Amino acid sequence: MLVATFSGSKGGTGKTALAVSLSIMASGSLRSLLVDASAEGGVTAYVFGDAPGPYLSEDPEGSLRSVSLGDIRLTVAVNRGPLLWPERVAAKVREWAESHALTIVDLPALTDVDAVERYMPLLELTDAVLIVAEPNPASLEASLYRFGEKRVVVALNQPRPYPKSLVDHYARVVASWCRSAGAEYVVVPYEPAVSRMGPGLLRVFDFTSSEFDAAVAKLIHLLLRKR
Ligand SMILES: Nc1ncnc2c1ncn2[C@@H]1O[C@H](COP(=O)(O)OP(=O)(O)O)[C@@H](O)[C@H]1O
Ligand SMILES: [Mg+2]
Repeated sequence: MLVATFSGSKGGTGKTALAVSLSIMASGSLRSLLVDASAEGGVTAYVFGDAPGPYLSEDPEGSLRSVSLGDIRLTVAVNRGPLLWPERVAAKVREWAESHALTIVDLPALTDVDAVERYMPLLELTDAVLIVAEPNPASLEASLYRFGEKRVVVALNQPRPYPKSLVDHYARVVASWCRSAGAEYVVVPYEPAVSRMGPGLLRVFDFTSSEFDAAVAKLIHLLLRKR
């Protein structure tokens, strides 16, 4: 299963934090691969702090690193810089996905038409898209898209604390969009441990609330569920 994370033109919605959290939780039971396709190297920074090259953008095969978290093992394709040969990268990712039960591709925020075009080969090859949006109108408007026949799961995420009434309101907006788009959604709570996640705190689920853990588990379940 190949999943791309997406947030329209808005950065900072929590794509990378959720991509890392999902991969860590999934790797407890599934062979998982996390591909850093973001130009800013967000996944790479979360997992390694700083990683020397080669990077996905220059040498896909050489970019693969393995991390061990106790008995959990996760493979990460590290990156920095925009993908200059997206087709070449997409072909590699497709090949890797064949030997992984879950492959998550973290994309940058696609801020303009050029960026959308550049990353299209990666979006096209995925089975599912995880849309990460915040409970505010700008984020939702920029992010709620259909992707042809692909499975779409929306994470209504709270990278900062939002009032419950606002979250409830936008959860209804998302629910209504999902009904018309044949998509599904999960409300992800604000979780302080996530904002402290980094190389020194990668076993983030040792510190997270059961609500956050349940939300991430549900996202994994919805993404992997057979239609
Ligand atoms: N559910 C959450 N709870 C707390 N902090 C979060 C949550 N989701 C994301 N964050 C924090 O929000 C910030 C932006 O997240 P990030 O994943 O880098 O966004 P994006 O990849 O969409 O640009 C980071 O500091 C991250 O740790
Ligand atoms: Mg990011």
